[in-house]
Parts: sequence; C-alpha cells; structure tokens
Amino acid sequence: MASISTHNPFTATETPAVGVIVDRLCKNFGSLEVLKDVSFSVEAGEIFVLMGPSGSGKSVLLKHIVGLEFPTSGKVTVDGHDAASETIRDKVRMALVFQAGALFNSLSVYDNLALYPREHRIAKEAGIRDKVMRALQILSLEGTAQKFPSELSGGMKKRVAIARALVMEPQLMLYDEPTSELDPIMSATISEIIATLKDEYHVTSIVVSHDRELALGIADRIGILMDGKLAFLGTKEEVQSPTDPRVAEFLNPKIDLKNPRFKKLEN
Ligand SMILES: Nc1ncnc2c1ncn2[C@@H]1O[C@H](COP(=O)(O)OP(=O)(O)OP(=O)(O)O)[C@@H](O)[C@H]1O
Ligand SMILES: [Mg+2]
Repeated sequence: MASISTHNPFTATETPAVGVIVDRLCKNFGSLEVLKDVSFSVEAGEIFVLMGPSGSGKSVLLKHIVGLEFPTSGKVTVDGHDAASETIRDKVRMALVFQAGALFNSLSVYDNLALYPREHRIAKEAGIRDKVMRALQILSLEGTAQKFPSELSGGMKKRVAIARALVMEPQLMLYDEPTSELDPIMSATISEIIATLKDEYHVTSIVVSHDRELALGIADRIGILMDGKLAFLGTKEEVQSPTDPRVAEFLNPKIDLKNPRFKKLEN
C-alpha cells in the first residue's frame, strides 16, 4: 500500500481551507419533506462525519453543498459563496465521491481520472499522467488503468471514484459512503487518506458514512440526521454517550432474534 504521508501531488500546500455553513436548510420533493430546518457549520480544515438511518436525507444534503440540489428554503454557503450559485465550482475546488461511484462507463479508468484535468487544462498530458498514476497507486489500483468500469468489482469502482476526486486537487472533499463495499483494510486506508488530506493539506472533508470505525477514528465532529433533522451534533467523544435515546439506539442497535418478522412462514 502506497503512503501519501510523505508526498502528495494532489493538493497544493498553499490551497486555502474552506468552511461550509448550512443555515436553516429545508428541502421538499413534492409533499415529501426530506430536510427540515437543518443548521450546522463545518470549519475550514475539519473532518465532519454525517451519519443517520437510510433515507434520512444524507445524500440530499451533500448534493446541496455541491450545488446539485437547491434549497426549498434556507441556504448553504461554501467559503462564503452561495452553493446554489452557478459559479460555485469556479470559486471553490470541490469533489463529491458519489455513493455509487458515478464513473463514465464508456471511458477507461485512466480516462475517467484524466477527464477533469484535461477539461480544465490543469497540466500537459505528461503531468496529468503523473497525477493519474499516483492516485491509482495510492488506492492500489495500478493494474486497472486500461480497464473499463464494467470490468471492476464494486469496491474497486468505489476506489476509482475516490482516486478521480483526488486528481481534482480539491479544497473540499465530500464522500458519500466511501467505505461501503470495501474490506476492513481498504476502509482503514480510506480513513488514512481523509485524515492525511486534513493534517498535511488542510482539506475540509464531509463524510457521509455508516462506518462507526471511520467516524470514531477520524471525525472532528459528528452529525446524526434523523427524519430530516439533526438529532445529534458533537464530537466523537460526545457521541459515545448520547442523551437522545433514538441516537443511542441508532449507534448500538439491539438485535432481537425473537422478532416475529424472523419467524418461519407457516402454511
Ligand atoms: N430527486 C429526488 N426526488 C424525489 N425524492 C428524492 C430525491 N432524492 C432523494 N429523494 C428522497 O429523499 C429521501 C432522502 O434520500 P437520501 O438519498 O438523501 O437518503 P440517505 O440518507 O442518503 O439514505 P441512504 O443511507 O440509504 O443512502 C428519500 O426518501 C428519497 O426517496
Ligand atoms: Mg445516501
């Protein structure tokens, strides 16, 4: 496994850190109220982990930060700029690692990673090649450069999506379930990458995850979204002794094997 602690060509040291403010955010899809008055801020250079049950609105919230969804009311600002403005991506370099990867199936792994630097003329082809190969190396994907996404396992696609985000030299990294589908060693590597980007390059990270190991390992602060509201906001120490019983149950669910749902169907 390659280490990025000694040399990271992806994020310039002079990259200014950016903060995020989510202010009274409400989002409805028709009559469905997904986000209900959510407010929190993420400090520049912080790792913020967002947890919560399936369907609680985590992915929808992330999409507001990168300007892929727009508030019904309330506002999201990134580095002081309205995230809903058309020019947000010109002002802040941010990369979202989508839950399902969102790779271009008609492009090889190499071309998926090279797409952004080519479109933005970040470097000449040789420089782009260095960045792409380095990102693949960090994620143990050297052998996949000429493969197509359909030839990869789910976990490999996930790693390609993270590698592609690294090549964008982000100031703000957003990850949607970065360790789902990964084995424990690769999950630990992803945690290391997120922590290294913070420690050495001051990248702000917002990580949506169900992975308690990751949250308790690297989060500066944790938010838990339940039913469209923030049920918990605090440090990883504070999350160990939650006062809200719903949060406690979410973090330490009891397994009830006598649940009638599990009874055999009888004729
Ligand atoms: N574009 C959309 N149109 C209508 N409803 C949507 C849309 N996007 C999300 N939703 C709904 O918003 C709710 C929250 O979805 P979201 O994807 O944010 O959940 P999540 O917390 O990320 O869940 P998971 O942990 O399963 O990924 C769900 O009920 C979903 O069906
Ligand atoms: Mg989701």
